[in-house]
Amino acid sequence: MGSISKSVYSGGKVRNRRLKRREGEGSVNIESIRKAYRRYASFYDFSFGSIFEPGREAVIRRMKFAPGCSVLEVGVGTGLSLPLYPRNISVTGIDISEEMLEKARQRRRREGLMHVSLHCMDAENMTYPDDSFDAVVAMYVVSVVPNPCRLVDEMRRVCRPGGELYFVNHFQHEHPFVCGMERMISPLSRLLGFRPDFSLCQFVREARIDVVDRSPVNLCGYWTMLTARNNKAEMCLCKTPPLASSSLASGAAASAGLQALIE
Ligand SMILES: C[S@@+](CC[C@H](N)C(=O)[O-])C[C@H]1O[C@@H](n2cnc3c(N)ncnc32)[C@H](O)[C@@H]1O
Repeated sequence: MGSISKSVYSGGKVRNRRLKRREGEGSVNIESIRKAYRRYASFYDFSFGSIFEPGREAVIRRMKFAPGCSVLEVGVGTGLSLPLYPRNISVTGIDISEEMLEKARQRRRREGLMHVSLHCMDAENMTYPDDSFDAVVAMYVVSVVPNPCRLVDEMRRVCRPGGELYFVNHFQHEHPFVCGMERMISPLSRLLGFRPDFSLCQFVREARIDVVDRSPVNLCGYWTMLTARNNKAEMCLCKTPPLASSSLASGAAASAGLQALIE
């Protein structure tokens, strides 16, 4: 990682701590995730294949693909999205779970997806150089990883400036009853392998995401698709610690932007 990137991205620690503390899921860690998805791997497609499929399709429909462009999908899981990408681009999928990834490898072979490469890697500590991809996608991953801000920092780093970041995820519901239920089951995050009460506004604000579109997806619009511009060029120009006034302003701008998109 380049030196500018380091100075900008190291601030993720503070924001991650705040996001984790507020979400009450400090116990989620890489080992608990590996364990949860080792369990899920054999029935993941059956349980989460069709229900999450409209969200995967919506993201890929929304993406702009120039021939030969490069896309990174973090937390690719069993590779359910892989057949949906056009074949004239290059797709890289990474995941922390070997068992989930093995299913993705089988799919790659079975469906002849030669434009896809798959690697076991922690999305919060990627080995790719800065600016390696035109777009980076996280489908149903941000509420799973231990440090969501760190994940977004890494997505920004490996994506070229001005490239696009895409997210689809469940976020804490606005209805007080549903939100209460989500809070109630949040102590089970470790077992579930995701945080049910993950706040959208807090995520956007603390990860300083420059959201350009927000759309409801999947059953009853219970999940959300976010399209964001890779704003790392502006963040590098700031070169200030993340909680200094200019960064707060950028977070506030992101929140204001999101608020406008909500309204
Ligand atoms: C809910 S599944 C989503 C799988 C797939 N994206 C989909 O559309 O169904 C979350 C995936 O994120 C992976 N994951 C969690 N933390 C990760 C990390 N730090 N780095 C890479 N992958 C991670 C899990 O192993 C799991 O495969």
